[in-house]
Amino acid sequence: MELSAVDLTKRYGSKTAVNRLNATLTNGVYGLLGANGAGKTTFMRLLCTVQRPTSGKIVLDGKSIWKLGERYRDVLGYLPQHFGYYPDFTALDFLLYVAALKGLDNRKAKKVSSELLEEVGLSGESRCKIKTFSGGMKQRLGIAQAMLNDPYILILDEPTAGLDPKERVRFRNLISAFSKDRIVILSTHIVSDIEFIAERIMMMKAGEIIHFGRPHEITSRISGCVWECSVPTSRAEQYTVSLNISNLRNEENGRTVLRVIADQPPVAGAVKVQPNLEDLFLYYFKEEEQ
Ligand SMILES: Nc1ncnc2c1ncn2[C@@H]1O[C@H](COP(=O)(O)OP(=O)(O)O)[C@@H](O)[C@H]1O
Ligand SMILES: [Mg+2]
Repeated sequence: MELSAVDLTKRYGSKTAVNRLNATLTNGVYGLLGANGAGKTTFMRLLCTVQRPTSGKIVLDGKSIWKLGERYRDVLGYLPQHFGYYPDFTALDFLLYVAALKGLDNRKAKKVSSELLEEVGLSGESRCKIKTFSGGMKQRLGIAQAMLNDPYILILDEPTAGLDPKERVRFRNLISAFSKDRIVILSTHIVSDIEFIAERIMMMKAGEIIHFGRPHEITSRISGCVWECSVPTSRAEQYTVSLNISNLRNEENGRTVLRVIADQPPVAGAVKVQPNLEDLFLYYFKEEEQ
């Protein structure tokens, strides 16, 4: 199956949140990466038919997703960025409730709910009320509810927000296993969340996709612009003001190694290094992030 956005535009008054966006997605894990305000949530809400575009369209195998309606939503799973939970529901009750809304029959709902609770590491807490859950536990429950109908298209808006490192690893493994023969789209403003699971990165800025490709393909766009250089630790602070620094590593000899994004060598003796996604992100988002 092929999901395509064609000249997709969404305006809120004079603000253009998604600007003539074009993208074609087939099976695989896609990382939607961009600073806050880039338009990720709006794009995802359009993909989920929660919002209508101002102009342009989204088609699944050539058919408008708005015309497909229920038939489209049957194959869709969605975790919104701000998800409303029912604090007095238990984890299991909540999944059964969402399953009922999605039209699953009772027996299937029970089976799938307990399998999913197991997969997101909540089987021990299935009968605990959601109000007792940590942020990461709620987020894992949110991911589980998005997967209840075994969706062909899974859209997760900032799914790793609030997850601790162990939960992130579990999430990565879950998505990798789930994504075979499906389309999975994850948004984040944290590069390391998707660097290892996304087969393709869509980098979004000001409502447009400015890069689309495999991680190493898109990072090659800034090859020659990432440097490492060693400076006295006492002066490292002063460099952070004038340079775009993606990493800073203190060494034991009183020196600090700076990783710098710059078109020219930032200091004498700087060595060119291979760019990674984090570098690319900083290259494009320096102003917005500060
Ligand atoms: N309902 C809305 N009304 C007005 N402006 C909005 C609305 N939703 C989003 N925006 C604006 O659209 C832009 C994109 O927002 P959003 O899609 O939430 O970006 P992201 O998820 O990448 O942070 C932002 O400038 C935001 O302020
Ligand atoms: Mg968002």
